[in-house]
Amino acid sequence: MTDLFTPYTLKDLKLKNRVVMPPMCQYSVSNKDGIATDWHYMHYVSRAVGGAGLIIIEMTDVEPDGRISDFDLGIWSDEQIPALARIVEGCHAYGAKVGIQIAHAGRKAEDAAVPVAPSAIPFDANATPPRELTNAEVKAMIEKFRQGVARAVKAGVDVIELHGAHGYLIHQFHSPLTNLRTDEYGQDLTRFGSEVIRAAKSQMPAGMPLIMRISAKEYVEGGYGLTDSLKFSKAYKEAGVDIFHVSTGGEGPIGVGPIATGEKPGSHAAYQVPLASAIKHNLDVPVIAVGRLDEPILADAVLGNEEADLVAIGRGMLRNPYWALEAAAQLHKETDIPKPYMFSFPRTSK
Ligand SMILES: Cc1cc2nc3c(=O)[nH]c(=O)nc-3n(C[C@H](O)[C@H](O)[C@H](O)COP(=O)(O)O)c2cc1C
Repeated sequence: MTDLFTPYTLKDLKLKNRVVMPPMCQYSVSNKDGIATDWHYMHYVSRAVGGAGLIIIEMTDVEPDGRISDFDLGIWSDEQIPALARIVEGCHAYGAKVGIQIAHAGRKAEDAAVPVAPSAIPFDANATPPRELTNAEVKAMIEKFRQGVARAVKAGVDVIELHGAHGYLIHQFHSPLTNLRTDEYGQDLTRFGSEVIRAAKSQMPAGMPLIMRISAKEYVEGGYGLTDSLKFSKAYKEAGVDIFHVSTGGEGPIGVGPIATGEKPGSHAAYQVPLASAIKHNLDVPVIAVGRLDEPILADAVLGNEEADLVAIGRGMLRNPYWALEAAAQLHKETDIPKPYMFSFPRTSK
């Protein structure tokens, strides 16, 4: 039976367990140059020490105006590669595999003088109105994603994640609410995402899987639902996606930000799991489930019940870098504990 500590293999990606640290922006670049700092190094390597099987580096953007804030990571320049490579090496030394989320914020680029988007529709009343990308700029954007992925591969990552969720650029293209274009990228709402996927794959070794993060449902009035996300995910799978990382929302003022909180839909435990499970079983594709899965017994059940192949623990791992080690202790599973920490965890048995 599959549990949190069953190894996972897909193509050349071999994970020691099924615990994923999902991408979480740190807004901690010091010089607005998109280069990872010592903070990023410690932040990611400490989660590797803490036993995560796969660590996905936060939203890392393909151009300066594709950042949410000027303090986000970037991947538009070769100068950004060495600091990322150092993080990857550090995580590898402690047994974790590393992915990176390649992204563009589109109309949600808060520090851009004029953000760009599929159509000139602002995020909300306070947002700087974006301008519509020309057809040539859309094609140039796909090229920027291609180059970003090539740099990430050079940095030594084991897997690439494309950010197609939370109302960022790829999501803006496949959502009927934010893409009113009349060119080919508006006639087929999945065309931009599919071309980005193919561009990404062209730079990845054949054995390296591609993850795509999606919002499987929107929370704004008139937003798309599961039937639609199954359709666009099918197109993305055909274009080359190997694993879907299933989130929700972020597209507009109702579901502001990546996390639905308070009264908004989805504040209960495991709230996105039924969507992950539907994508997995309808499209016959591996999925990562995420969203309030902090209780090890719950995260473990999602895997045991075959609702997902991997589980991501976001805020739980921000609070506790050793989430995976503690989960193993709670579930009485074997896992590698760093030798200097051996005496702080109870001995486990299978
Ligand atoms: C501080 C913070 C930053 C985040 N940044 C990103 C991001 O860069 N990319 C992304 O796809 N999701 C981002 N998220 C969403 C998380 O990856 C995750 O999907 C969300 O927190 C729900 O999982 P949880 O309940 O385990 O925290 C962020 C969440 C937090 C708390």
